[in-house]
Amino acid sequence: MLAERMSRVSTSPTMKVAGEAEKLKRQGVDVVDFGAGEPDFPTPEPAKSAAKTAIDQNYTKYTPPAGAADLKQAICNRYKMDYGVSFTEAETIVTAGGKQALFNIAMVLYNPGDEVITHAPYWPTIPEQVKLMGATPVIVQTRPEDGFKVHPDAIIAAMTPKTKAVIINSPCNPTGAVISEAELGAIADAAAKRGIWVVIDLCYEKLIYEPVPHNLVKVLTDRMRDRALFAGSASKAYSMTGWRCGWILGPKEVVAAANTLQGHSTSNVASISQKAALQALTGSQEPVTAMLDEYRTRRDTLMGWFAADPRIECVKPAGAFYLFPRITRVLDAIGISNTGDFAQALLDDARVAVTPGEGFDAPGFLRISYATSVERLREGTNRIFEFVKKRERQGAVAR
Ligand SMILES: Cc1ncc(COP(=O)(O)O)c(C=O)c1O
Repeated sequence: MLAERMSRVSTSPTMKVAGEAEKLKRQGVDVVDFGAGEPDFPTPEPAKSAAKTAIDQNYTKYTPPAGAADLKQAICNRYKMDYGVSFTEAETIVTAGGKQALFNIAMVLYNPGDEVITHAPYWPTIPEQVKLMGATPVIVQTRPEDGFKVHPDAIIAAMTPKTKAVIINSPCNPTGAVISEAELGAIADAAAKRGIWVVIDLCYEKLIYEPVPHNLVKVLTDRMRDRALFAGSASKAYSMTGWRCGWILGPKEVVAAANTLQGHSTSNVASISQKAALQALTGSQEPVTAMLDEYRTRRDTLMGWFAADPRIECVKPAGAFYLFPRITRVLDAIGISNTGDFAQALLDDARVAVTPGEGFDAPGFLRISYATSVERLREGTNRIFEFVKKRERQGAVAR
């Protein structure tokens, strides 16, 4: 009944526990939710009031499918200010979040039979979109031993005559790792030589904790501007996940194709959201710093608590808002064979929702979102430790 292409993609397995947690919460159960892939902060006030003004001024009609000119200009200005790189409006399209930005790129670039290289652990949508196009995701593993570093050699070794693109997500969901400028430069040089596109998912670009050089926009535009694409988003930086506003910056042929595609599918992002995003991008960036400071405190606090169990191996995330510990030694100790079962048992017994690693191509790992208050982090961590202790006791009795 369904189109063949739907047989190539699956609903993210990460959604199973999330769905059950949601159901429990609706029933009034006190679930500590570490599953959230979105900031817990409200959208900053100035963006909200820009949206209210838009409604009051009847800015409620279609805009051009690629987005209003003032917003496209604001995105270009933001990148000029932040990265020192100039883009024109013709090189910019406003999309329904970073997700549609990546989807549009996939639709207009990847052919059946193409290979698209990316790194794991990954955000599941990245390879699924590739599969939806009939292309093949080629996965290069990164490892906690070296902080989930993307090794250019491994990416380059995966390049073949069929490679159409390399997708890099930095900061990475779920690992929090950032790629260095030198590493990206090496990948870009190899890609440019072979006519391969490089797509950067910069959704978490504003959420990097230490001032490390991370001007990926300049690295790529200096080396291979004609084959570099940037997917950005207002979602995480400005706590605007529900507004659905992202963008692509890149060569105008690709942007024009994405515009045609969008013109026949979703058309423009809601006009009201566009005004909110315009304010977020052009107004004070102080709310971003305030949120980042709070995430940093939470990250360090949570890392400190998890350190109490040396079996939990945890790399300090450089960006985004997830801890991604490896818990294989805990699983062995309590006789649970995978993190999917662990997450289910933890939700059933202790009412804590975490995201199992399997969906990120990372068995043995858990994703713990700290986009929640320190009090809830404390409560959830206590429950996890008690759950593990209880299981160990039960195991000991059974033995
Ligand atoms: C790595 C990554 N890229 C892109 C997105 C897309 O977010 P949005 O569509 O809300 O901009 C997400 C959202 O979770 C993400 O984690």
